Amino acid sequence: EKGGYDHFMLKEIYEQPRSIRDCMRGRIYPEEGKVQLGGIKEFADKLKNIDRIIIVACGTSWHAGLVGEYLIEEYARIPVEVEYASEFRYRNPIITEKDVVIAISQSGETADTMAAIEMAKEKGATIFGVCNVVGASIPRITHAGVYTHAGPEIGVASTKAFTAQVTVLTLMAFYMAQQKGTISNSKLVELLTELDCIPDKIQVALQSNDIVKAISEKFKDSRNCLFLGRGSGFPVALEGALKLKEISYIHAEGYPAAEMKHGPIALIDEEMPVVVIATKNSSYEKVISNIQEVKARKGVVIAIVTEGDTEVKKMADYCIEIPDSSEAFLPLLATIPLQLLSYHIAVLRGCNVDQPRNLAKSVTVE
Ligand code: F6R
Repeated sequence: EKGGYDHFMLKEIYEQPRSIRDCMRGRIYPEEGKVQLGGIKEFADKLKNIDRIIIVACGTSWHAGLVGEYLIEEYARIPVEVEYASEFRYRNPIITEKDVVIAISQSGETADTMAAIEMAKEKGATIFGVCNVVGASIPRITHAGVYTHAGPEIGVASTKAFTAQVTVLTLMAFYMAQQKGTISNSKLVELLTELDCIPDKIQVALQSNDIVKAISEKFKDSRNCLFLGRGSGFPVALEGALKLKEISYIHAEGYPAAEMKHGPIALIDEEMPVVVIATKNSSYEKVISNIQEVKARKGVVIAIVTEGDTEVKKMADYCIEIPDSSEAFLPLLATIPLQLLSYHIAVLRGCNVDQPRNLAKSVTVE
Protein backbone atom coordinates (compact mmCIF):
# COMPACT_ATOMS: atom_id res chain seq x y z
CA GLU A 1 0.00 0.00 0.00
CA LYS A 2 2.97 2.32 0.57
CA GLY A 3 4.28 1.29 -2.83
CA GLY A 4 7.72 0.35 -1.53
CA TYR A 5 8.20 3.57 0.45
CA ASP A 6 8.77 3.54 4.21
CA HIS A 7 6.01 6.04 4.86
CA PHE A 8 2.94 7.42 3.13
CA MET A 9 4.43 10.89 3.41
CA LEU A 10 7.45 9.92 1.29
CA LYS A 11 5.24 8.11 -1.22
CA GLU A 12 3.04 11.20 -1.49
CA ILE A 13 6.05 13.50 -1.90
CA TYR A 14 7.24 11.32 -4.79
CA GLU A 15 3.76 11.21 -6.33
CA GLN A 16 3.82 14.94 -7.03
CA PRO A 17 4.94 14.88 -10.67
CA ARG A 18 1.93 12.65 -11.33
CA SER A 19 -0.57 14.38 -9.03
CA ILE A 20 0.16 17.76 -10.58
CA ARG A 21 -0.15 16.32 -14.05
CA ASP A 22 -3.57 14.89 -13.03
CA CYS A 23 -4.57 18.23 -11.60
CA MET A 24 -3.86 20.01 -14.91
CA ARG A 25 -5.34 17.36 -17.17
CA GLY A 26 -7.99 18.75 -19.53
CA ARG A 27 -7.61 22.18 -17.98
CA ILE A 28 -4.68 23.69 -19.87
CA TYR A 29 -4.19 24.14 -23.61
CA PRO A 30 -0.67 25.54 -23.92
CA GLU A 31 -0.63 25.89 -27.70
CA GLU A 32 -3.83 27.91 -27.73
CA GLY A 33 -2.95 29.79 -24.54
CA LYS A 34 -6.21 28.73 -22.93
CA VAL A 35 -7.31 27.57 -19.48
CA GLN A 36 -10.58 25.73 -19.03
CA LEU A 37 -12.11 25.21 -15.60
CA GLY A 38 -15.40 23.40 -16.05
CA GLY A 39 -16.23 23.69 -12.35
CA ILE A 40 -16.46 27.49 -12.38
CA LYS A 41 -17.48 27.99 -16.02
CA GLU A 42 -20.96 29.21 -15.06
CA PHE A 43 -19.30 32.13 -13.29
CA ALA A 44 -17.01 33.09 -16.19
CA ASP A 45 -18.90 36.35 -16.79
CA LYS A 46 -19.08 37.29 -13.15
CA LEU A 47 -15.31 36.98 -12.93
CA LYS A 48 -14.95 39.84 -15.39
CA ASN A 49 -16.32 42.31 -12.87
CA ILE A 50 -15.41 41.29 -9.38
CA ASP A 51 -13.92 43.83 -6.99
CA ARG A 52 -12.36 41.53 -4.49
CA ILE A 53 -11.60 37.92 -3.64
CA ILE A 54 -11.41 36.59 -0.10
CA ILE A 55 -9.56 33.32 0.41
CA VAL A 56 -10.39 31.38 3.58
CA ALA A 57 -8.52 28.31 4.82
CA CYS A 58 -6.53 26.82 7.71
CA GLY A 59 -2.97 25.51 8.06
CA THR A 60 -1.20 24.39 4.92
CA SER A 61 -4.25 25.28 2.83
CA TRP A 62 -3.93 28.85 4.13
CA HIS A 63 -0.33 28.87 2.86
CA ALA A 64 -1.58 27.79 -0.56
CA GLY A 65 -4.00 30.74 -0.29
CA LEU A 66 -1.07 33.14 0.16
CA VAL A 67 0.50 31.83 -3.04
CA GLY A 68 -2.90 32.28 -4.70
CA GLU A 69 -3.04 35.91 -3.55
CA TYR A 70 0.31 36.60 -5.15
CA LEU A 71 -0.71 34.99 -8.47
CA ILE A 72 -4.26 36.39 -8.71
CA GLU A 73 -3.09 39.92 -7.95
CA GLU A 74 -0.16 39.62 -10.37
CA TYR A 75 -2.07 38.22 -13.33
CA ALA A 76 -5.78 38.98 -12.88
CA ARG A 77 -5.26 42.28 -11.03
CA ILE A 78 -8.05 41.53 -8.55
CA PRO A 79 -7.41 42.48 -4.90
CA VAL A 80 -7.19 39.39 -2.70
CA GLU A 81 -7.40 38.98 1.06
CA VAL A 82 -6.26 35.74 2.65
CA GLU A 83 -7.92 34.92 5.94
CA TYR A 84 -7.60 32.24 8.57
CA ALA A 85 -11.11 30.78 8.54
CA SER A 86 -11.22 30.78 12.34
CA GLU A 87 -10.43 34.50 12.58
CA PHE A 88 -12.62 35.54 9.67
CA ARG A 89 -15.76 33.87 10.95
CA TYR A 90 -15.67 35.51 14.37
CA ARG A 91 -14.78 39.01 13.26
CA ASN A 92 -18.03 40.30 11.76
CA PRO A 93 -16.22 40.77 8.43
CA ILE A 94 -17.52 42.99 5.66
CA ILE A 95 -18.86 40.78 2.89
CA THR A 96 -21.18 41.73 0.04
CA GLU A 97 -22.86 40.04 -2.92
CA LYS A 98 -20.04 41.33 -5.07
CA ASP A 99 -17.43 39.28 -3.24
CA VAL A 100 -16.07 35.94 -4.32
CA VAL A 101 -14.88 33.72 -1.50
CA ILE A 102 -12.49 30.87 -2.30
CA ALA A 103 -12.38 28.19 0.40
CA ILE A 104 -9.36 25.90 0.25
CA SER A 105 -9.49 22.56 2.05
CA GLN A 106 -7.84 19.24 1.33
CA SER A 107 -10.32 17.22 3.39
CA GLY A 108 -13.33 19.39 2.62
CA GLU A 109 -14.39 18.85 6.23
CA THR A 110 -12.55 21.48 8.27
CA ALA A 111 -15.05 22.94 10.74
CA ASP A 112 -13.80 26.53 10.77
CA THR A 113 -13.57 26.69 6.98
CA MET A 114 -17.12 25.33 6.67
CA ALA A 115 -18.46 27.87 9.14
CA ALA A 116 -16.67 30.72 7.35
CA ILE A 117 -18.27 29.66 4.07
CA GLU A 118 -21.72 29.43 5.61
CA MET A 119 -21.42 32.93 6.97
CA ALA A 120 -20.19 34.40 3.68
CA LYS A 121 -22.93 32.57 1.81
CA GLU A 122 -25.59 34.06 4.06
CA LYS A 123 -24.27 37.52 3.24
CA GLY A 124 -24.66 36.81 -0.45
CA ALA A 125 -21.09 36.14 -1.56
CA THR A 126 -20.29 33.65 -4.32
CA ILE A 127 -18.39 30.71 -2.89
CA PHE A 128 -15.83 28.63 -4.78
CA GLY A 129 -14.21 25.56 -3.28
CA VAL A 130 -10.73 24.18 -3.89
CA CYS A 131 -10.94 20.71 -2.33
CA ASN A 132 -9.28 17.36 -2.75
CA VAL A 133 -11.83 14.91 -1.35
CA VAL A 134 -14.60 14.60 -3.92
CA GLY A 135 -18.10 14.92 -2.48
CA ALA A 136 -16.92 16.08 0.98
CA SER A 137 -18.96 18.58 2.99
CA ILE A 138 -17.31 21.77 1.73
CA PRO A 139 -17.72 21.04 -1.99
CA ARG A 140 -21.39 20.30 -1.24
CA ILE A 141 -22.08 23.75 0.22
CA THR A 142 -20.13 25.87 -2.30
CA HIS A 143 -21.66 27.37 -5.44
CA ALA A 144 -18.90 26.02 -7.66
CA GLY A 145 -15.36 24.77 -7.39
CA VAL A 146 -12.28 23.16 -8.80
CA TYR A 147 -11.11 19.84 -7.39
CA THR A 148 -7.38 19.36 -6.89
CA HIS A 149 -7.44 15.67 -7.96
CA ALA A 150 -4.26 14.84 -6.03
CA GLY A 151 -5.68 11.46 -5.02
CA PRO A 152 -6.08 10.27 -1.42
CA GLU A 153 -3.56 11.76 0.98
CA ILE A 154 -2.91 9.44 3.92
CA GLY A 155 0.04 11.11 5.64
CA VAL A 156 -1.27 13.66 8.13
CA ALA A 157 1.19 16.28 6.88
CA SER A 158 -0.11 17.77 3.68
CA THR A 159 2.35 17.44 0.78
CA LYS A 160 0.87 16.54 -2.60
CA ALA A 161 -2.40 18.20 -1.60
CA PHE A 162 -0.55 21.48 -1.05
CA THR A 163 1.16 21.49 -4.45
CA ALA A 164 -2.14 20.54 -6.10
CA GLN A 165 -3.87 23.43 -4.32
CA VAL A 166 -1.17 25.77 -5.56
CA THR A 167 -1.59 24.36 -9.08
CA VAL A 168 -5.36 24.93 -9.02
CA LEU A 169 -4.91 28.49 -7.73
CA THR A 170 -2.37 29.11 -10.50
CA LEU A 171 -4.94 27.89 -13.03
CA MET A 172 -7.63 30.06 -11.42
CA ALA A 173 -5.37 33.11 -11.58
CA PHE A 174 -4.69 32.51 -15.28
CA TYR A 175 -8.38 31.78 -15.94
CA MET A 176 -9.47 35.01 -14.27
CA ALA A 177 -6.76 36.93 -16.14
CA GLN A 178 -7.99 35.41 -19.39
CA GLN A 179 -11.62 36.40 -18.58
CA LYS A 180 -10.67 39.91 -17.55
CA GLY A 181 -8.23 40.46 -20.40
CA THR A 182 -5.38 41.37 -18.04
CA ILE A 183 -3.03 38.93 -19.76
CA SER A 184 -2.11 38.67 -23.44
CA ASN A 185 -2.64 35.44 -25.29
CA SER A 186 1.05 35.20 -26.10
CA LYS A 187 1.99 35.54 -22.43
CA LEU A 188 -0.51 32.83 -21.57
CA VAL A 189 0.95 30.56 -24.24
CA GLU A 190 4.36 31.10 -22.69
CA LEU A 191 3.22 30.51 -19.08
CA LEU A 192 1.11 27.46 -19.86
CA THR A 193 3.90 25.92 -21.92
CA GLU A 194 6.15 26.29 -18.92
CA LEU A 195 3.50 25.04 -16.48
CA ASP A 196 3.06 21.95 -18.63
CA CYS A 197 6.73 21.10 -17.92
CA ILE A 198 6.52 21.67 -14.16
CA PRO A 199 5.84 17.98 -13.36
CA ASP A 200 9.15 17.13 -15.09
CA LYS A 201 10.93 19.85 -13.13
CA ILE A 202 9.46 18.49 -9.90
CA GLN A 203 10.93 15.15 -10.86
CA VAL A 204 14.31 16.88 -11.09
CA ALA A 205 13.76 18.70 -7.78
CA LEU A 206 13.15 15.29 -6.15
CA GLN A 207 16.69 14.32 -7.10
CA SER A 208 17.83 16.61 -4.28
CA ASN A 209 16.77 13.80 -1.92
CA ASP A 210 20.29 12.51 -1.19
CA ILE A 211 21.77 15.90 -0.45
CA VAL A 212 18.73 16.84 1.64
CA LYS A 213 19.14 13.61 3.59
CA ALA A 214 22.81 14.41 4.26
CA ILE A 215 21.88 17.92 5.42
CA SER A 216 19.18 16.45 7.65
CA GLU A 217 21.85 14.42 9.50
CA LYS A 218 23.57 17.66 10.46
CA PHE A 219 20.46 19.38 11.75
CA LYS A 220 18.44 16.59 13.30
CA ASP A 221 19.29 17.73 16.83
CA SER A 222 18.54 21.41 16.29
CA ARG A 223 16.03 22.91 18.66
CA ASN A 224 14.97 25.79 16.46
CA CYS A 225 14.96 26.63 12.80
CA LEU A 226 14.13 29.75 10.82
CA PHE A 227 12.75 29.74 7.27
CA LEU A 228 13.02 32.89 5.14
CA GLY A 229 11.64 33.84 1.74
CA ARG A 230 10.40 36.88 -0.16
CA GLY A 231 7.48 37.31 -2.57
CA SER A 232 5.95 33.94 -3.31
CA GLY A 233 8.94 32.42 -1.50
CA PHE A 234 7.44 33.70 1.76
CA PRO A 235 4.47 31.28 1.85
CA VAL A 236 6.96 28.55 0.92
CA ALA A 237 9.00 29.49 4.00
CA LEU A 238 5.85 29.33 6.16
CA GLU A 239 5.00 25.93 4.75
CA GLY A 240 8.56 24.63 5.27
CA ALA A 241 8.41 25.71 8.90
CA LEU A 242 5.00 24.14 9.47
CA LYS A 243 6.11 20.82 7.98
CA LEU A 244 9.20 20.74 10.19
CA LYS A 245 7.34 21.56 13.39
CA GLU A 246 4.44 19.22 12.84
CA ILE A 247 6.36 16.06 12.02
CA SER A 248 9.75 16.53 13.72
CA TYR A 249 8.62 18.64 16.71
CA ILE A 250 11.43 21.12 16.14
CA HIS A 251 10.36 24.68 16.77
CA ALA A 252 10.40 26.47 13.43
CA GLU A 253 9.22 29.83 12.16
CA GLY A 254 8.70 31.17 8.68
CA TYR A 255 9.33 34.84 8.04
CA PRO A 256 9.43 37.26 5.13
CA ALA A 257 13.22 37.63 4.78
CA ALA A 258 13.14 41.41 5.18
CA GLU A 259 11.24 41.15 8.48
CA MET A 260 14.17 39.30 10.03
CA LYS A 261 15.83 42.49 11.11
CA HIS A 262 12.66 43.56 12.93
CA GLY A 263 13.02 40.89 15.59
CA PRO A 264 14.01 37.32 14.73
CA ILE A 265 17.59 38.37 13.95
CA ALA A 266 18.09 38.47 17.72
CA LEU A 267 17.78 34.67 17.75
CA ILE A 268 20.55 34.02 15.27
CA ASP A 269 23.74 32.34 16.45
CA GLU A 270 25.78 29.29 15.43
CA GLU A 271 23.06 27.02 16.82
CA MET A 272 20.38 28.41 14.53
CA PRO A 273 19.89 26.87 11.09
CA VAL A 274 18.32 29.34 8.68
CA VAL A 275 16.69 27.93 5.56
CA VAL A 276 16.52 30.57 2.84
CA ILE A 277 14.62 30.46 -0.45
CA ALA A 278 17.29 32.12 -2.60
CA THR A 279 16.33 31.25 -6.16
CA LYS A 280 17.04 33.52 -9.12
CA ASN A 281 14.04 35.78 -9.40
CA SER A 282 13.15 39.43 -8.83
CA SER A 283 14.19 39.42 -5.17
CA TYR A 284 17.48 37.52 -5.63
CA GLU A 285 19.79 40.44 -4.76
CA LYS A 286 17.72 41.33 -1.72
CA VAL A 287 17.80 37.76 -0.46
CA ILE A 288 21.57 37.72 -0.89
CA SER A 289 21.87 40.64 1.50
CA ASN A 290 19.60 38.83 3.96
CA ILE A 291 21.95 35.83 3.79
CA GLN A 292 24.89 38.14 4.50
CA GLU A 293 23.07 39.45 7.57
CA VAL A 294 22.62 35.89 8.83
CA LYS A 295 26.23 34.93 8.12
CA ALA A 296 27.49 38.07 9.89
CA ARG A 297 25.82 36.70 13.04
CA LYS A 298 27.28 33.22 12.56
CA GLY A 299 23.97 31.66 11.57
CA VAL A 300 24.11 28.48 9.51
CA VAL A 301 22.50 28.96 6.10
CA ILE A 302 20.81 26.24 4.09
CA ALA A 303 19.82 27.81 0.78
CA ILE A 304 17.39 26.63 -1.87
CA VAL A 305 19.00 27.89 -5.08
CA THR A 306 18.48 27.79 -8.83
CA GLU A 307 20.49 25.17 -10.69
CA GLY A 308 23.90 26.55 -11.62
CA ASP A 309 23.86 29.31 -8.99
CA THR A 310 27.29 30.65 -8.05
CA GLU A 311 26.61 33.74 -5.90
CA VAL A 312 24.70 32.14 -3.04
CA LYS A 313 27.07 29.17 -3.08
CA LYS A 314 29.88 31.48 -2.00
CA MET A 315 28.01 32.41 1.16
CA ALA A 316 25.68 29.63 2.20
CA ASP A 317 26.84 26.63 4.23
CA TYR A 318 24.66 24.21 2.27
CA CYS A 319 22.89 24.64 -1.06
CA ILE A 320 20.06 22.62 -2.53
CA GLU A 321 19.46 23.14 -6.24
CA ILE A 322 16.10 23.22 -7.97
CA PRO A 323 15.42 23.77 -11.69
CA ASP A 324 15.07 27.30 -13.01
CA SER A 325 11.53 28.57 -13.54
CA SER A 326 9.44 31.71 -13.82
CA GLU A 327 8.59 33.27 -10.50
CA ALA A 328 4.98 32.15 -10.93
CA PHE A 329 5.97 28.51 -10.51
CA LEU A 330 8.66 28.88 -7.88
CA PRO A 331 6.43 27.69 -4.97
CA LEU A 332 5.76 24.38 -6.74
CA LEU A 333 9.48 23.64 -7.00
CA ALA A 334 10.94 25.22 -3.86
CA THR A 335 8.48 23.34 -1.63
CA ILE A 336 9.85 19.94 -2.68
CA PRO A 337 13.24 20.01 -0.88
CA LEU A 338 11.56 21.46 2.23
CA GLN A 339 9.11 18.55 2.34
CA LEU A 340 12.07 16.16 2.06
CA LEU A 341 14.00 18.04 4.74
CA SER A 342 11.20 17.77 7.29
CA TYR A 343 10.66 14.13 6.34
CA HIS A 344 14.29 13.05 6.81
CA ILE A 345 14.75 15.02 10.01
CA ALA A 346 11.59 13.45 11.46
CA VAL A 347 12.71 9.95 10.48
CA LEU A 348 16.18 10.52 12.00
CA ARG A 349 14.56 11.72 15.21
CA GLY A 350 12.43 8.59 15.34
CA CYS A 351 9.14 10.47 15.00
CA ASN A 352 5.92 8.96 13.75
CA VAL A 353 5.99 10.68 10.37
CA ASP A 354 2.59 9.67 9.06
CA GLN A 355 0.73 10.16 12.34
CA PRO A 356 2.34 12.99 14.28
CA ARG A 357 1.20 13.39 17.87
CA ASN A 358 -1.83 15.56 18.59
CA LEU A 359 -2.76 15.97 14.92
CA ALA A 360 -5.65 14.63 12.87
CA LYS A 361 -6.09 14.46 9.12
CA SER A 362 -9.33 16.37 9.21
CA VAL A 363 -10.14 18.85 11.91
CA THR A 364 -13.88 18.65 12.24
CA VAL A 365 -14.01 20.37 15.60
CA GLU A 366 -13.32 24.06 16.01
C1 F6R B 1 -0.52 20.56 7.65
C2 F6R B 1 -1.92 20.18 7.62
C3 F6R B 1 -2.95 21.07 8.25
C4 F6R B 1 -4.12 21.25 7.28
C5 F6R B 1 -5.26 22.03 7.95
C6 F6R B 1 -6.39 22.30 6.97
O1 F6R B 1 0.29 19.64 7.03
O2 F6R B 1 -2.24 19.15 7.06
O3 F6R B 1 -2.39 22.30 8.60
O4 F6R B 1 -3.65 21.91 6.14
O5 F6R B 1 -5.74 21.31 9.04
O6 F6R B 1 -6.93 21.11 6.49
P1 F6R B 1 -7.84 21.06 5.22
O7 F6R B 1 -7.01 21.47 4.06
O8 F6R B 1 -8.31 19.65 5.12
O9 F6R B 1 -8.97 22.03 5.43
